[in-house]
Amino acid sequence: MLEQDIERILYTREDIQRVNEKLGKQITADYQGKNPLMIGILKGAIVFMTDLIREIDLHVEIDFMDVSSYGDGTISSGEVKIIKDLDTSVQGRDIIIVEDIVDTGRTLNYLMAILKTRQANSIKVCTLMDKPSRRVVPVHSDYVGMEVPNEFVVGYGLDYAERYRNMGTIGVLKPEIYSGK
Ligand code: XMP
Ligand code: MG
Repeated sequence: MLEQDIERILYTREDIQRVNEKLGKQITADYQGKNPLMIGILKGAIVFMTDLIREIDLHVEIDFMDVSSYGDGTISSGEVKIIKDLDTSVQGRDIIIVEDIVDTGRTLNYLMAILKTRQANSIKVCTLMDKPSRRVVPVHSDYVGMEVPNEFVVGYGLDYAERYRNMGTIGVLKPEIYSGK
């Protein structure tokens, strides 16, 4: 039913699973002997985060942050506010920020600035998708699942008007969904 609204599937469930296995192996290798704190950015990263952590063969802890842009939502003003902060102290911890997609880079840039003031031992970023063509603020992601073209994607945690987060694939919506026809 959900996929009826999709014009083009970009990544199948199998594609996504392969990416998660690859990222999980990299993180497992890089964090041997460590106990990283994985910070999922709500809400988009939750589906990715729950699958990714099961591909990591280490003791990890999880926590979540929710941030939102000020402004009208379509054109980001570049300012971001914290809606939900962490429950866990990051002091001395090895933290991995888990994002669904890095677009302009503003959200990640702001998060990094906040977290850098909190005396973590290390901060790395793992994003399922990267849209480098849209970058406004230069940000570095240590683990990138896939590079996506400059198109608005939904599914696997990503939404349009809070819908499609529970679709198992990632795709581009039919134009009539946006125009409401
Ligand atoms: P910035 O621009 O700060 O934004 O890097 C990152 C956040 O913007 C959302 N975003 C998308 N959401 N499909 C979505 O459903 C997209 O194609 C898309 N591009 C950006 C997303 O919440 C991300 O965390
Ligand atoms: Mg997001």
